[in-house]
Amino acid sequence: MKSEYYYHGSDIEKIKAKYNISEDDLINFAANVNPFGLSPNLKKEFDIDIITSYPNRQYTELKTAIAEYTNSSVENVLVGNGTSELISTFIRHIHPSKAMIIGPTYSEYEREVSLSGGQSYYFPLYEEDGFKINADTLIDRLDKSIDMLIICNPNNPTSSCIDCITMRRILDVCKENHIYVMIDETYIEFVAEINAYSAVSLTDFYNNLIILRSTSKFFASPGLRLGYAIIGNEDFIAEINKTSKPWMVNSFAAKAGEIMLRDSDYIEKTNKLINEEREYCYNALLAADGFKPYKPYANFMLVKINKANLTSNDVFEKAIKQGMLIRNCSTFPFLTDEYFRFCFMEHDANVKLIDCITNC
Ligand SMILES: Cc1ncc(COP(=O)(O)O)c(C=O)c1O
Repeated sequence: MKSEYYYHGSDIEKIKAKYNISEDDLINFAANVNPFGLSPNLKKEFDIDIITSYPNRQYTELKTAIAEYTNSSVENVLVGNGTSELISTFIRHIHPSKAMIIGPTYSEYEREVSLSGGQSYYFPLYEEDGFKINADTLIDRLDKSIDMLIICNPNNPTSSCIDCITMRRILDVCKENHIYVMIDETYIEFVAEINAYSAVSLTDFYNNLIILRSTSKFFASPGLRLGYAIIGNEDFIAEINKTSKPWMVNSFAAKAGEIMLRDSDYIEKTNKLINEEREYCYNALLAADGFKPYKPYANFMLVKINKANLTSNDVFEKAIKQGMLIRNCSTFPFLTDEYFRFCFMEHDANVKLIDCITNC
């Protein structure tokens, strides 16, 4: 049976209605959100009366917590209503007539470039390369006709990741050619060796670099709408601040961000779980007949089906009937109905999903 609609991890209301499942019976493997839920410190320490005051316009306390968490400087931090708003803010500000996007990837970049009147060109990641970037070919294609390069790192949905050494080579060529580079690091905190992959420390050397981060996925708080950017170029930050609204983030999100980013037990527990479950899920599907998992760096994995007459929609239907929501990836550019993606949840849930997939 074919689903006439491809569900996103946040389409819970539609899914509950169509498949007659209650929210409590649904395990969401499609939203890429930390399975531990909210930081316990947030529940303990949060005082709801915070919303009786306007937030501090400078967001000094929140920016201090972000700077400590990311090992950057308070002056280099900007905050926003989720990464989504920051993607839009930067694209509209840079206003690229020609943007290059490394894909398949998250669709919002292309949408925002188009809304700001520009054209997007995809630099493809190839299945034969395990969706790893070919940096030499990319570097050959970068020239002065491009205004902006957009990279999701680790990339959604391939879960591939570019290391800092390779990123520096790309950034050098972009700097020479006056190309702004926006790196969306929404999933970077799930990577095992974050310091070898995050480009935050490179903001001190490249004035054309914008890093975006979010609390939505790692801190399981997509409803909070808290994102932030790290930029080394003070003039660029001043320009953005001139046109931004007085309160980019509400008092609730500002205080919650401070508490969550300092919850080191939660961070450590999450890293341990994701490292173990990533290995478990990857090895289980590597060993299974008919499925090809691509080496995951983030908290989710892309899988190709290598079985005749089995599509990603079939796997989706089988999983949802057992209360598990995965992401059919056939709507991503360059991907077909042979691909699906799922994120790592707690161990028992992962065992149940792997069992369902391998019995398809
Ligand atoms: C790569 C990527 N960037 C950004 C977002 C949106 O993040 P936020 O909730 O911070 O707006 C998502 C959401 O799925 C995503 O996958």
